[in-house]
Amino acid sequence: MPKRVDSAAVRVEVSQHQIPEAGADLLVAGLHRGEELPAGLAGAAGADDAGGAFKKLALLHPERPGRALVVGLGKRDEMDAERARVAAALAAKEAGRLEAESLAWALPVSDDDAATAAGLVTGTILAAYRFDRFRGRDPDDPPPPPIESLTLLAPDGVAAAAETARVCAAAQNRARDLQNLPSNVATPSHLAGRAEEIAAADDAVSVEVLGREEIAARKMGGLVAVSQGTEEEPKLIVLRYAGGGSGPTLGLVGKGVTFDTGGISLKSSASMHEMKMDMSGAAAVLEAVAAIAELGLAVDLVAVVPATENMPSGTAIKPGDVITQYNGKTVEVNNTDAEGRLILADALTYAVELGAERIVDLATLTGAVLIALGSTYAALISNDDELAAEVEKAAETTGELAWRLPLHPEYKELTKGTVADLTNAAAKRKAGTIYAGSFLEEFVGETPWAHVDIAGTAWDAGREYTGKDASGYGVRLLVELARGLADRGPSAASDSH
Ligand code: BES
Ligand code: MN
Ligand code: ZN
Repeated sequence: MPKRVDSAAVRVEVSQHQIPEAGADLLVAGLHRGEELPAGLAGAAGADDAGGAFKKLALLHPERPGRALVVGLGKRDEMDAERARVAAALAAKEAGRLEAESLAWALPVSDDDAATAAGLVTGTILAAYRFDRFRGRDPDDPPPPPIESLTLLAPDGVAAAAETARVCAAAQNRARDLQNLPSNVATPSHLAGRAEEIAAADDAVSVEVLGREEIAARKMGGLVAVSQGTEEEPKLIVLRYAGGGSGPTLGLVGKGVTFDTGGISLKSSASMHEMKMDMSGAAAVLEAVAAIAELGLAVDLVAVVPATENMPSGTAIKPGDVITQYNGKTVEVNNTDAEGRLILADALTYAVELGAERIVDLATLTGAVLIALGSTYAALISNDDELAAEVEKAAETTGELAWRLPLHPEYKELTKGTVADLTNAAAKRKAGTIYAGSFLEEFVGETPWAHVDIAGTAWDAGREYTGKDASGYGVRLLVELARGLADRGPSAASDSH
C-alpha cells in the first residue's frame, strides 16, 4: 500500500555565479517588457523573439551555458510574487519538454528580492508535481524526467526565504498527494497514520488519535452521526506543536471527510468521484503543521482533524434526525449531505477545550462558494476583524486568495431549528456559504475564529503552478499566518527573515 509521498524532491541552491557559469541543463531568465536581456543573453540566437510580454516564452541558444529560456514578466511595476510563481511554473513545464533536470534561474529585478526568489522556488516545485503512483510505465512514451535541482543566481541574502519556500511547497505537494489518493487508500486511518508520521519526525510535535468508541464516549455527537453509516473507522486526530511561542495558541481545524456520498441525502453520481477530496482541509492542516515544525517557528499549535466517510446505509443518520453536538447544542439533521458542519462543530469545540486561543478552520464546505467566488478566492468568514485581516493579508502574500463574507443576525435566524436548537440545512438554500459559517460560529464561543471555505479552491483551480487537479490550497497560507504570529514573540529580534 503506498504510504509515503512520492512528489519529486527538488534541491534548491543559491549561487552568485554569473549566467555563463550557471552550469545547469537549462538557464532561465525573466524579462520585463521594454527592458534589455541580461548580459550574456543579449544578442544570442533567438533573442529577438523575447518581447517580455507576461507569460511569453522564448528559447535562446547562447554559447554558454548552451540553452536559455526567457520568460516574459510583463511591466516592471506589475512584478510581484504571484508573477514569479507563474513564470517559474511556465519554465518548469518547458524544462520538462526539453528534458532538463537542472534549472538555473537568474533572479529578475524587483522591489523585493526575497519574495521573488521565494516565488520562483514555489512555482517550480508546485509545477513539477505529478501524481502517477498508480500509473504503469509506457516504455514508448516515458514521462519527462523530474526536475532535480533549482539554482537561483541571486544574492546570498535570499537563501532563507528560498529555503522557507522550499519547505512550504514540498508540504503543499504532500497535501496534494493526500487529496489525490483515492478514498479506498486515504481513509481516516490513513490520515491518522500520516499525523503519527509527522509527530514521529519532530520532538516538538505530539499526536493523539481517538477512534469510534472514544468519540462516542466523549459524546461528540456530530462526528458520531456522520460516521454511523460507514464501517470505516472514524478518527479524531489531534496534533500539537510546542514551538515555544509567546503569543496565543493557534488552533487549526480541517474537514476530513475522506469520501462524501451525501449519505441518505445522496449526491448525484455525475461528479461524486471528486468527493474523495472532501478531506482537503484536513490535508492542508496536517501538512501545514509538518511544515511549521520543520521550520521550527516559535508558535504553539493545536490542530484538530475530524475524519470520517459520509455513507448511506441501514445505520446511517436520516433526514430529520436530531443529534446533540459535543457542546450540548441540538441539531436537526435535515440534510445528511451537510455533514461537514456537523463534524467541524465538534472539532471546533474540542479545539477550544484543548487551549486554542484563536482558530482557523479549512473546509470544502459548500458548493455555493463555487457559485459565489469560483476557484479564484476561497470564502473567509470570521467573528473577529483582526484575525480576518491577518488571514486576508497572509492570503494575499501566498496567492491563496480569500474574500471575506459577512455574518449577520438575519443569517443566524436561518439556522434555527424547528424542533431543535439548530438545523444543519435550511429549506431554501439562501446564502449557503454564510449559512454554514453562521452555523459553525455557534461552536467557538468567544474565541476569535476564521472559517475558510475551500470547496472552490482545493482543486480545479487552474493556476499555472497548481493545474486543474488537487491544489493543496491552504498549506502556505497557514504557514504564513503562523509566521506572522511567531514574528510577534520575543524571539522576533533574533529571527532573520
Ligand atoms: N463536500 C460538500 C461541498 C462541496 C461541493 C465541496 C462541491 C466541493 C465541491 C458538502 O459536504 C456538501 O455536500 N454541502 C452541501 C450543503 C447543502 C446540502 C446545504 C452543498 O453545498 O450542496
Ligand atoms: Mn456533503
Ligand atoms: Zn462534504
